[in-house]
This record gives sequence, structure tokens and C-alpha cells, in this order.
Amino acid sequence: MLKNDISTLAVDHCIFSIIDKAVVEENGPRIVASGSGLTITDGAERSYTDMVGGYTRPNSLGYGNEEIARAYYDQACKMHYAGTVDIVTGPMVELAQTLTELTPGALSRAFFTSGGSEAVESAIKIAKHYQQGSGRKPHAYKIISRWNAYHGATAGAMSLTNHLTVAQSPDPRLPGVSFIPNPQCYRNPFGMSEDDYFTFCADYLEQQILHEGPELVAAFIGEPIMQANGAQIPSKAYWQRVRDICTKYGVLLIMDEVICGFGRTGTWFAAEHFGIEPDILTMAKAMTAGYAPMGAAMTTPEIADAIPHFRHVHTYSGHAASAAAALATIAIKKRGGLIEKALDNGVYFQSELKAALGDNPVVGQIRGLGHWHAIDFTSDRATKALPNPEMVSAIVNGIKQRGILVGAAGTSMEVAPALIATREDFDRTVSATVEAIEDAAARFGLATAA
Ligand SMILES: Cc1ncc(COP(=O)(O)O)c(C=O)c1O
Repeated sequence: MLKNDISTLAVDHCIFSIIDKAVVEENGPRIVASGSGLTITDGAERSYTDMVGGYTRPNSLGYGNEEIARAYYDQACKMHYAGTVDIVTGPMVELAQTLTELTPGALSRAFFTSGGSEAVESAIKIAKHYQQGSGRKPHAYKIISRWNAYHGATAGAMSLTNHLTVAQSPDPRLPGVSFIPNPQCYRNPFGMSEDDYFTFCADYLEQQILHEGPELVAAFIGEPIMQANGAQIPSKAYWQRVRDICTKYGVLLIMDEVICGFGRTGTWFAAEHFGIEPDILTMAKAMTAGYAPMGAAMTTPEIADAIPHFRHVHTYSGHAASAAAALATIAIKKRGGLIEKALDNGVYFQSELKAALGDNPVVGQIRGLGHWHAIDFTSDRATKALPNPEMVSAIVNGIKQRGILVGAAGTSMEVAPALIATREDFDRTVSATVEAIEDAAARFGLATAA
């Protein structure tokens, strides 16, 4: 097949996600040919350093990892998949036990899925089954989510989603979902200080539960660190107050760690940063470092045991070869101390970014943890005015022209590499970012000298 044919065939035969078809038709799809370590090579044989973790962030161990591929292969040769319901395999059970050690608190019962959206669907069902079936809240069906949340694209998960164009899919959605303000860093719609806004957002949850009727509210769901507008890290006080409010009203706390889990923020799970224990935790993406589709919803024995018959199934729940890939992924991260290293790298990268860009007039805030960082842009630091979205795109493209892939996330650009990224990779990213910001700001008529 000729290289050019791939673009034409893709446009003729593929459906593209959350992007206007006209844009793909005009620019062509992005063709990826191969990868090794952090290097990704495109259809025109240009190579880039992937500092964004495979676009949607699952890539936590780089490309071409033979150990994970072999673990999948060996298990697939022996027993790839035999069914679900009450059928188990060794890797699936070992993974459930391993996750019990890695996840916070009393979480020790896993329901496996093929990805993040299914994990969220399963969490919703666990919450409703528990509340209704156990008789604690026989009529509870409501779920509270947050502005700008992303929880997935399937009907239930999408109903809890308020970010990306999947949120504008045709109605109707799941009944009983409401949204409250999210603890957004740097700027918020009320012009409050960051700490005041975090307090306001937590207090709002209590008011929303009272407004909806506590006996009808089954669960509250949140990403510990949200992605919308780039790595939104709330205060410890925010999550601790949310935990207290959920406990007070018997509302289950679902932490959606699909993007944060398995080391992205420098801990196995981001809940650890906030010192809280969710009732249900969802995971996917970096669980297998992106080598095999897999996710899970974990809960406590108290909740799982109160559900005598879980009326829910996914064909690939507990897929044996995917479970083997997940176990290999976890083993590599443990053996190399990669999670601890990610935490240190994050501190280093933050300090380098702040030294290079802290006074830059188009940079509003630099924040991040582990291997997940955002630079939030502004067109006026005094007023925190929104940046021109075209300037953010120009910066991301400018960095790409310098051989490094980062991501645009609304008002921010994100850097979220696999855990194998080195200090040198971070240093190169700082230099390319400084140059790209200078170029783009000049193009948009904004000075970069303080
Ligand atoms: C926090 C969160 N939850 C759920 C999902 C959905 O996961 P998937 O795309 O694997 O269905 C995502 C995906 O980006 C996510 O970031």
C-alpha cells in the first residue's frame, strides 16, 4: 500500500472521534508508523519524542516494551480468554489481589472491564445496586458530577460528562444526574481566590445533596485531578471535606482514576496525595501501559458483599491476556521504582519550568505532579484573561516542530510523558516550550519579556 493511500483510505473508511470530519479531510489523519521508548515515528518517517503519553495518556512505559508484549503473548498462547460471569483465570485473580495492595484503604474487590468508560458504568451500577439492594437508600438513583468532568463516552459515563464534545451528544441522558462547580485552578467564573473557590466547591456539594434529597443521591463522582484545562490539582482540604460530606449523607464517593492511576501523578493512585479513601475507584489506561484494553472498578468488601447478585456483565471482563499485560506493567513499575522517580521528576520539571517561564506574561500558572503538568496561558496576567485558543495551538505546534509532542487542553498545554522519560527529556521540553511560546506570543502581538 502506498503511504498516501492510508490517508485516503482512512477518510473513506474510518469514523473519527471528537473532531470535525472536515478538519481530518483537509489535514489528513495523523499516521503513526512505529514507536520505540519515547520515540514515535510518523508515516513520513519523521520522529518525535512523545511527552504526552500516547495522546490520551495511557502510555506509561513507552513504545515497544517487549516484556509486556511477551506477557500478553505467553498468556494468549496458553489461555487468552475463556469467558466471564463465574469463570476466572490465574492472571485475573492475581491482578485483583495485586490491586488490593496498590489501591488506597479497604478497596479489595475488583470488577474488570475493557476500558475507562465501562469502569465508570460499572461504578454507577455498583453504587445503585448497593444503595437500593441493601435497603440503605431504596430509591437512590441520583448521581452528582462536576462541571468540566470527563468520565467517558458510553451512555452512563457520558451522562456524568461535561467536557469534550461527547458531552453534546443527542439527549436524553441518564436521569438524575446533576453537576456542581469543579475546583478549577488559576481562574474561576466567580473571580474568587483559588483556596476560597475550592472551599466553595466543596460546600456546594453539601447544598446539592440537600437540594436533590439525600435519600435519593446514590453517589458523587470526581476525578482526583481533572483534565479539563490541564491537570487541575485541588487542595487536600477540598477532597477531605468532600469525603466528610459523602460520609455524612451516605453518598458513595467514586474517584475516577482512569487518567491518574498507575503512577501518572507520582503515586500509584492520586487519592494518596489527598489522604482519602474512596468507596469506589475506577481505573484503566496506564493499567496496561496501553498495551491491552483493560479497566476496573474497585470497591470495599462492605459494598461488594451487600450486592448479592450484580446484574451487570462485559464480555471481556477479566480478559486473561490483558490481565497478564497489567501484571507485567505493574511489575516493571515496581522493579524500577518508577512511581517514586516520577514524583521526583515532577518536582524537578516544575522548578525548571517555573525558573524559565514563571515571569512570562502569557503564562498564567504552571502546575503539575509526577508526570502530569500544565502551563495555563493568559492574554493578560493582571486580569487572568483567557488566552487566544489559536495561540495555545500555535505553541503546541511550535513544540512539535522542535521534535516534541505535548498536548493542548483548553486554556493550557499539557506535558504527560510515560514514566520512562528522563531529566534530559524534560530539559529538552523546557527549551522547546520557551522557544515556542516566544514565537507564538510574538505572532499574536503579545510581548514575552516581563
Ligand atoms: C477520567 C476518565 N474517566 C473515564 C475515561 C473513559 O475511558 P475510556 O476512553 O477508556 O473509555 C477517561 C478517558 O479519557 C478519563 O480520562
